[in-house]
Amino acid sequence: MMKKLIARLDDFFYKVILKNLLKTSKLGYGTIITGAESGVNFEHMYNNHPEGKFIIGRFIDKVLLNLPAVHATRGRKDDIKKIIWNEVQNNRLLGKKTRVLDLASGSARYLRELADEHRNGDIESVCIDKDKDCVSLGEKLAANENLKNVRFLKGDIFQLDHLRKLSSRQEWIPNIVVASGLFIYFNDNDVEKMIKEVYEFLPENGLIIFSSYENLNTRKLMRKTMSTSSGEKWTLYYRKPEHWISLLNRIGYRYPFIFRDRWEMNNIIVGRK
Ligand SMILES: C[S@@+](CC[C@H](N)C(=O)[O-])C[C@H]1O[C@@H](n2cnc3c(N)ncnc32)[C@H](O)[C@@H]1O
Repeated sequence: MMKKLIARLDDFFYKVILKNLLKTSKLGYGTIITGAESGVNFEHMYNNHPEGKFIIGRFIDKVLLNLPAVHATRGRKDDIKKIIWNEVQNNRLLGKKTRVLDLASGSARYLRELADEHRNGDIESVCIDKDKDCVSLGEKLAANENLKNVRFLKGDIFQLDHLRKLSSRQEWIPNIVVASGLFIYFNDNDVEKMIKEVYEFLPENGLIIFSSYENLNTRKLMRKTMSTSSGEKWTLYYRKPEHWISLLNRIGYRYPFIFRDRWEMNNIIVGRK
């Protein structure tokens, strides 16, 4: 009896009080109304400038933007940039351009920042997202930032066949494939299939770079207050480094390695064909 009452009060607190308070902040509103996984919300996390209705909204936004999980998201972006930049240097020594295909790119902040910081044009990126709002946001920001080599396309990354046709038609073959903030939403079978397809798709020596959550200390808050863009219940898949090393080895990637962040939440996994 007592247990039931506590559970109801807990539900009421999260689903009524906290949810309505969160909606006054930009990040809270985005995660509750437009879907927590949207790349648009991630752009706001990277900007890290609190916005919201009235002082309370901005205050809550500031609190949300300072959650360790959000710090870890910004850290993941910086780590991905470092890994890509390292590969750009290697390619340069070999006289090759770096071509990055970003799967489920959102607004591809890491690629836009790289393109902005290194304007000599030796990184070309194609960014695919199924959400038209993410595609238009990416296009708009890239145009404002005057970036020439970053293109955004609307598409479903689970239809890589389309991508293969598109890239062979345009003779544009990526030597890096990135998937950041994606695999947490998909089960082991779907993820394995995708990583295998990327392997087939990459040229020899091509690199796959993706992120995976090992843990999130905001699990309860997300489950009880936030929703996905499809309105479906959250199912999030947390995976340990050993899982990835064994999967990449099994598929045939060479030298798989893992960057673990200092919050022990986001891992970046890298493998070479
Ligand atoms: C958490 S965001 C990550 C955005 C960006 N990669 C980053 O790390 O900042 C996940 C993105 O995956 C996109 N997405 C999910 N399923 C997809 C699919 N099947 N095809 C293309 N994009 C997808 C969503 O629209 C969303 O923008």
